[in-house]
Amino acid sequence: MRYPVLLTLHLFGALIFIGAVFFEVLILEGARRHIAAETMREVERAIARRARRLMPWVIVVLYSSGAAMAWHYRAALAHPLASSFATLLSIKILLALSVLAHFITAMTFSVRGRMTSRRFRFIHLSVFCHMVGIVLLAKGMFHVSW
Ligand code: HEM
Repeated sequence: MRYPVLLTLHLFGALIFIGAVFFEVLILEGARRHIAAETMREVERAIARRARRLMPWVIVVLYSSGAAMAWHYRAALAHPLASSFATLLSIKILLALSVLAHFITAMTFSVRGRMTSRRFRFIHLSVFCHMVGIVLLAKGMFHVSW
């Protein structure tokens, strides 16, 4: 597949994923204090059900397009400390893999019925911080050098 197509798919995957996480942390968390705890748990369960159906497809597109683009930079990635670009891209990929681990953990809790509000909030906050880092690195790797 051509690079611009991969980049466009990656961007759409990223905006759906990042948009969902930002919505949950910046809007849903703010709404929590106005909603009864049991109602909030219902909302969280409904969100988790929807996420279990939609997000695996988004993840497949996001990570497979990312991996295909990373192949294009394989020479740089073979020496992660040799250039600022390779270092920043390598950190970005590590953060993305950590996000994947969070996602799998969340899915496992959710499927086994062990997702508590506390876990829901912790996972979302952690993924939110990862996303901020990923976006800064994704753009910074082309503009920051040392
Ligand atoms: C949570 C997962 C991920 C998110 C949110 C994410 C997000 C982004 C964003 C926002 C960009 C900038 C795109 C643009 O400027 O048009 C980008 C670029 C890039 N990403 Fe990811 N990404 C993720 C996972 C990955 C993975 C797993 C890889 C590789 C294995 C990867 C490799 C790349 C590469 C090589 C670029 C540079 C593309 C270019 O501008 O030439 N990404 N990513």
